[in-house]
Amino acid sequence: MSTEDTQQLLDQIKADILDKNICPDLAKTATNLVMGDGNANADIVFIGEAPGKNEDLQGLPFVGAAGKFLDEMLAGIGLERKDIYITNIVKYRPPNNRDPLPEEKKAFWPYLVKQLQIIQPKVVVTLGRHSMEYFLPNQRISAIHGEPKRVAFGDHKLVILPLFHPAAALYNGSMRETLIEDFSAIPIIIKKIKKETN
Ligand code: URA
Repeated sequence: MSTEDTQQLLDQIKADILDKNICPDLAKTATNLVMGDGNANADIVFIGEAPGKNEDLQGLPFVGAAGKFLDEMLAGIGLERKDIYITNIVKYRPPNNRDPLPEEKKAFWPYLVKQLQIIQPKVVVTLGRHSMEYFLPNQRISAIHGEPKRVAFGDHKLVILPLFHPAAALYNGSMRETLIEDFSAIPIIIKKIKKETN
C-alpha cells in the first residue's frame, strides 16, 4: 500500500476516536488529539506513554525535551523521524502530566492495535512501562529492558523491544547510559528480522 493510502487509514482512526468520544474527560482538558507522526509504512514503531504539554499544543508526539533526546538517539543509530512511526498508548495529555490511568490505557488500546494492523511494523519499541505492559504483561521493565521478545500479534508476528522512557532517563545518568546502550541493539534486531523474512 502506498504511504498516502496507509496515512488515510490512520486518519480514519483519528476520526473514530473523535466520533466515539473516547476518554471525554481527557478530551475536555486537552488541546489536541495526538495520533502519531512519521512514516506510515515504517518497519519500526515507537510507542510512548501520553502527550505532554508541548505535544498537546503542537498535536505531535515527542516534540519536547524527551523527544529531542529520542531524536539524538535515533541519529546515533542512523535513523530519522521520517524512517520510523511514533505514537503513544494514550492519545490525549493527562492533566499536569499525571500517569495515564488503567482505564485510559484500556480505552485507547484498541486504537493502538488498529494503528499497528495498518502500519504492520516488524519491530515495536515500547518506551516506558505504560506501553510495555499491554504487549508484555506481568513483566518488570527494570528486568527486561533491552531484551527483544517475539510475540504473536493478530495475524502477524512482532518483535517487541522494551526500553526505558527517554523522559525518565533524561536526567538519570545510569538509566541514560542503559537506554543509549539498549538503543544500539535496534539496527542489529532489524537486520536480523529482515534477513529472516527475505
Ligand atoms: N512522553 C511521551 O510518552 N510521549 C510523548 O509524546 C511525549 C513525552
